[in-house]
Amino acid sequence: MAKHTITLIPGDGIGPEIVAATVSIIEASGVDIEWETHIIGAQALEKFGDTLPEPTIESIKRNKVALKGPLTTPIGKGFTSVNVGLRKALDLYANIRPVKALPNIESRNPELDLVIVRENTEDLYAGLEHVVVPGVVESIKIITEKASTRIAEYAFQYSVANNRKKVTAIHKANIMKLSDGLFLECFYNVSKKYPQIEADDKIVDNACMQLVMRPEQFDVMVMENLYGDIVSDLCAGLIGGLGLAPGSNIGEQGAVFEAVHGSAPDIAGQGVANPTAILMSGIMMLRHLGETDAANRVEKAMMEVFIEGEVRTKDLGGSAKTADFANAIIDKIKLNNR
Ligand code: NAI
Repeated sequence: MAKHTITLIPGDGIGPEIVAATVSIIEASGVDIEWETHIIGAQALEKFGDTLPEPTIESIKRNKVALKGPLTTPIGKGFTSVNVGLRKALDLYANIRPVKALPNIESRNPELDLVIVRENTEDLYAGLEHVVVPGVVESIKIITEKASTRIAEYAFQYSVANNRKKVTAIHKANIMKLSDGLFLECFYNVSKKYPQIEADDKIVDNACMQLVMRPEQFDVMVMENLYGDIVSDLCAGLIGGLGLAPGSNIGEQGAVFEAVHGSAPDIAGQGVANPTAILMSGIMMLRHLGETDAANRVEKAMMEVFIEGEVRTKDLGGSAKTADFANAIIDKIKLNNR
């Protein structure tokens, strides 16, 4: 029997290409994993008449860990986001998105090393919208003391466990005095339990400008769902693009590891997508499983490929295909094992 059973969701668009590359690299590390493949989203709707079929949820609940490719969500019509649905169904309340520049990659901030902790279950992402009268739509933002306290706790605990020095709450409490005001109040209440970690806050618009001008002032940043979504992509842009930004969704019932980016329909099916972001999510997954040696082996091999700089995908100015890049990392893993 395999040591770990993991739910695998290839996803849409570039998903199956980058997930296959990542699985082949993780397997080359020698870690003993059995993958349980499941579909969700548009593919599941067509096959089972349900975007989030129960067997997929059951599989993640049973295995406690999933590796997931991106899913396409129709814009302005059609089914509601399955990503949001999955996070809600499993109460994956903490979305952790490390932002760290990789070696030998052209980026605005080669020294950047920060972590976004995004609240994953509420805010405007509750999807509560209705037409009040024709031409007027109300979209409801939900912020609770429970979720705000829980995510602040996670951010401070993460900081202690990962030797981080400062947590900054990002908000718009000058305008949304009640909702973001509550988020901020919970943050500072929790911060009192962690005197060894510096706590401060910034208004989200200023934070975006500061991230571009002086990002080194940030360490761990905690924020509501919508700000977290937007600020994550901004940060990905600071380190060389969406192909390099990994993430994990963590809750009491399980953990789902996925890249920050989406299904990239503009390059899907061409075999040119950069698998680094989901591979780095896979490395986070190996650490979560306690497979530290395997995680280190994969990370070392990936770093070596970046440092040599000969095999690069198109988004990083190279001409390598997804599979070429994966094979270069696999070759390094094999070489380092000798
Ligand atoms: P996107 O993140 O898919 O793509 C934005 C741009 O970045 C595109 O030009 C794309 O080619 C490029 N890009 C993204 N990942 C890349 C990679 N690994 N390698 C090279 N280039 C990459 O965002 P977009 O186009 O706004 O959304 C497309 C679909 O993805 C939408 O349906 C959206 O809802 C969904 N989405 C899903 C997410 C998830 O499943 N977690 C997250 C974000 C978006």
